[in-house]
Amino acid sequence: MNERDTLKINAKGTLEIGGMDTVEIAKKFSTPVYVYDEQHIRNMMRLYKDTINEYYGGNGLVLYASKAFSCKAIYRIAQQENIGIDAVSGGELYTAINAGFNPSKICLHGNNKLKHELELALDNGVGIIVVDSHSEVDLLDQLASSRGIKQDVLIRVNPGIEAHTHAFVQTARTDSKFGFSIHDGTAEKMVLHLMNKRNLNLKGFHCHIGSQIFEKEPFVLATEKMIAFIADLKTKYGFETNTLNMGGGFGIWYTDEDSKLSFDDYREYLRSIIDVINNKTEKLHLKKPYLLIEPGRSIVGEAGITLYTVGAIKDIEGIKKYVAVDGGMFESPRYALYQSKYTAILANRANEPCTEKVTIAGKCCESGDIIAADVALPLAKSGDIIAVFSTGAYHYSMASNYNRNFIPPVVLVGNGTAEYIVKPQSYEDIVRNDAVPERLKWKQN
Ligand code: LLP
Repeated sequence: MNERDTLKINAKGTLEIGGMDTVEIAKKFSTPVYVYDEQHIRNMMRLYKDTINEYYGGNGLVLYASKAFSCKAIYRIAQQENIGIDAVSGGELYTAINAGFNPSKICLHGNNKLKHELELALDNGVGIIVVDSHSEVDLLDQLASSRGIKQDVLIRVNPGIEAHTHAFVQTARTDSKFGFSIHDGTAEKMVLHLMNKRNLNLKGFHCHIGSQIFEKEPFVLATEKMIAFIADLKTKYGFETNTLNMGGGFGIWYTDEDSKLSFDDYREYLRSIIDVINNKTEKLHLKKPYLLIEPGRSIVGEAGITLYTVGAIKDIEGIKKYVAVDGGMFESPRYALYQSKYTAILANRANEPCTEKVTIAGKCCESGDIIAADVALPLAKSGDIIAVFSTGAYHYSMASNYNRNFIPPVVLVGNGTAEYIVKPQSYEDIVRNDAVPERLKWKQN
């Protein structure tokens, strides 16, 4: 356990999140349900913000990458914590604006932004748009011009560092649909292309090197490459970079194969980026750029758990024991997509020793519908409550109505209360957008 732990086992032997009993939560809100600890989210937002304040003189902004978890309440929390957000679709943008989020602190991403998404951004005064293609630049310039505005933009740059959890590679040519490569000169060409646009104001550059990264080195290398690129542009064209966005990607704990990082560890990631910027800009006599970072997973990932009720149990002798719960890949898609590993416990008997390894399966009509494989549990019975940890990022946000299951509601625990921040769906919601053409309507004989 460390100071970031939001979970604890109480005297009754049941799991608590943010000081609230998960078994009571399951009873009150039913299962499956996503549950978030508000304080944990705030702590993570604050720690990044404080690090920029302490080590970079406040010359920057934390943007919460809301693709990790988007709903109105999370934008309210981000606004209260005085941070910005990264949105990656019209839907995220609309949700933030609808929640009353300050548009000037929104950064819009996307490798293929749609015209209506750009229009929504411009019409609402979104602070920064990160451009990622020639056609987008041309369209955005035209849309800004017709509105009589000059839009601040960053160019998404590919620094040739690709990181995946504990490994990273440096490449001269990266096969990626994102960004413009520094190495092959396309990033520089894009700068020149943008400089000719009358209604776009090139503020600087963005890069994002991957997600669920535990090492500091790839961040350090990427920052070095970005500063070298910035220096090069100054020498060649006298272009002064105002803003540098270093993306997100800091890793979180899912199982004991991952490190359980402390607040200080997270501060260190950011400090290592800031140290490079400070050192290199001084050495190269560059202006210190306004720093943006975009953590998503590390802000909400460990703040969230999912609660399920155990249903059917199937022991296939000598092979595997399946413990089926009331969820599935429709609300927990990361195993099906990435074979992601998770830790789970019986929330109602949290102190009991683990006696067997089971596979927690969902209720979807598909054999790959697994929530967590090879999980150590006490002997589970139908009716037990299972809690799966670290489900706060890329679970609710990636959920679907597959098999016409309900996307589970989301409950926020904070201030000694537990309340819905996303309400449960109903059967009516499931058919809400269905339409039946006249020729398919039942005819009375
Ligand atoms: N900024 C940009 C431009 C990004 O593409 C991402 C994540 C982030 C920030 C936030 O990264 P984070 O701090 O959350 O690692 N669905 C996958 C993760 C996809 C991440 C995509 N981009 C998963 O479930 O693991």
